[in-house]
Amino acid sequence: MRVLVVMAMHAEAEPVVRELGLAPVSTPPWAAHVPMKLYQGRVGSMELDLVVNGVDKQSGLDLIGTQAATASAMLGCEAFKPDLVVSAGTCGGFAKRGGEIGKVYLAEDRVWYHDRRVPIPGFDAMARGGYMVANLDNVAETLGLARGVVTTGDSLDLSAEDSERIEAVGAHAKEMEAAAVAWVAGLFGAGFTALKSVTDIVDGPHPPEEEFFENLKHATEQLAKELVRLVHAIAEDAGLA
Ligand code: ADE
Repeated sequence: MRVLVVMAMHAEAEPVVRELGLAPVSTPPWAAHVPMKLYQGRVGSMELDLVVNGVDKQSGLDLIGTQAATASAMLGCEAFKPDLVVSAGTCGGFAKRGGEIGKVYLAEDRVWYHDRRVPIPGFDAMARGGYMVANLDNVAETLGLARGVVTTGDSLDLSAEDSERIEAVGAHAKEMEAAAVAWVAGLFGAGFTALKSVTDIVDGPHPPEEEFFENLKHATEQLAKELVRLVHAIAEDAGLA
């Protein structure tokens, strides 16, 4: 079994690389020009790969959002041919649904887009995504992981239109990559899940851009801890630990 983790920011990936002892590998020649960074390792006899978006040429900042997530997932899936793809990162949580800073959710049910509005029959449903996540109920129960519906868009703020769509699916985690990664995993016939750690409370009193950096370190530590537990439990469940 082979598992690919897809992450956006270097700060999110660094503790995972360290704790799982992953080693950098060069990108294939056809992708030599892309900013994405690849890592490889093992958990027991399970192969565990990681792709991180890397840095934007224009701004010098970590690439975030669905555009880079799509490219990263394509590169990782083509390079490693995973059986399961995990979109791991940070998210906004919802106090009204039990969200707290540093709480980590394993995706449940489906992953949605909340900012793609195409009011044409058929295209409306395609725009919303609604990609199924892999059934990891046993693993989640063993680990005592919180479960939540994940919803994706390309903005940190919350517009009234986005809020309506988020409420329609009862989302627990608002983030910027999962649905894009899920779509690519589907193209490659791989299973998909997401693991998301809360940096800010969407329905709280503070703007997300303030809370995000205040809580990034704590949230990424929690994310790394739960991701390491998750991949070990998946390896054990598959008899590969
Ligand atoms: N990542 C972390 N917090 C977020 C939020 N509130 N919205 C979108 N992506 C996020």
